[in-house]
Amino acid sequence: MLRSALLNVMIAAARKAARSLTRDFGEVEHLQVSLKGPSNFVSAADHRAEKILREELAKARPGYGFVGEESGRQDGTDKTHTWIVDPLDGTTNFLHGIPQFCVSIGLEREGTLIAGVIYNPIADELFVGERGKGAYLNDQRLRVAARRQLSEAVFTCGLPHRGRGDLTLFRKEFEVVHDKVAGLRRFGSAALDLAWVAAGRIDGYWDRNLGPWDMAAGALLVREAGGFVTDLNGTDAMLNSGSIVAGNDTMHRELLKLLKAA
Ligand code: IPD
Ligand code: CA
Ligand code: CA
Repeated sequence: MLRSALLNVMIAAARKAARSLTRDFGEVEHLQVSLKGPSNFVSAADHRAEKILREELAKARPGYGFVGEESGRQDGTDKTHTWIVDPLDGTTNFLHGIPQFCVSIGLEREGTLIAGVIYNPIADELFVGERGKGAYLNDQRLRVAARRQLSEAVFTCGLPHRGRGDLTLFRKEFEVVHDKVAGLRRFGSAALDLAWVAAGRIDGYWDRNLGPWDMAAGALLVREAGGFVTDLNGTDAMLNSGSIVAGNDTMHRELLKLLKAA
């Protein structure tokens, strides 16, 4: 696969931030057993990774705007392009030494997602995609799963955080969906959940109360792999509304229907 200059910039930044995260992930395992626990350390790791991403991306594309989970929005002189970045998606996993986390970089041009890179450094899985050019995992072209029967499908979802989000609604949704599908998972990284839908590992995914950085890169990957992504109202406004449903055309439609019924 011949990669564009843009993807090369994004990949280089993701790998550099991931090197820092990987070093810190090694430390977390030691801190795990200490009384103080690793949470302050993890928050520092998160900020370190975001700083690397901000600097690397600005070096390569000065002027682009930047929205990062940790540092918020910084407008650039170029009003048409904005990076949408989660330096560490899957923080709770990271904190517990669970190797399911990633760096996620999306790029928006005039409100349209045009590129996405998601990197899980522990599995060394690099998911990349560019609008109109397809999605890839380590150079292998991706395609969403072709399953059409809910009874054969495996879905993944988010869970409301304690004290935030609507747990009663989630329980209803869970019940309705669980009743119909072959399996339900909760992996704990929205970006990887979407990358896995793009890779055809998972048939569908839904979540609420997400930030744009959780979804930007992954939504592009799903679309480039031939899948469908909307918010829970079925519109394109996921990055603003914070809810998301993804899958192939059938799974996306069926999942939306089930969630509405809940
Ligand atoms: C979280 C993860 C999780 C999702 C949460 C997000 P973080 O991001 O993506 O899967 O369900 O809502 O906040 O905090 O690990 O970057
Ligand atoms: Ca996140
Ligand atoms: Ca994060």
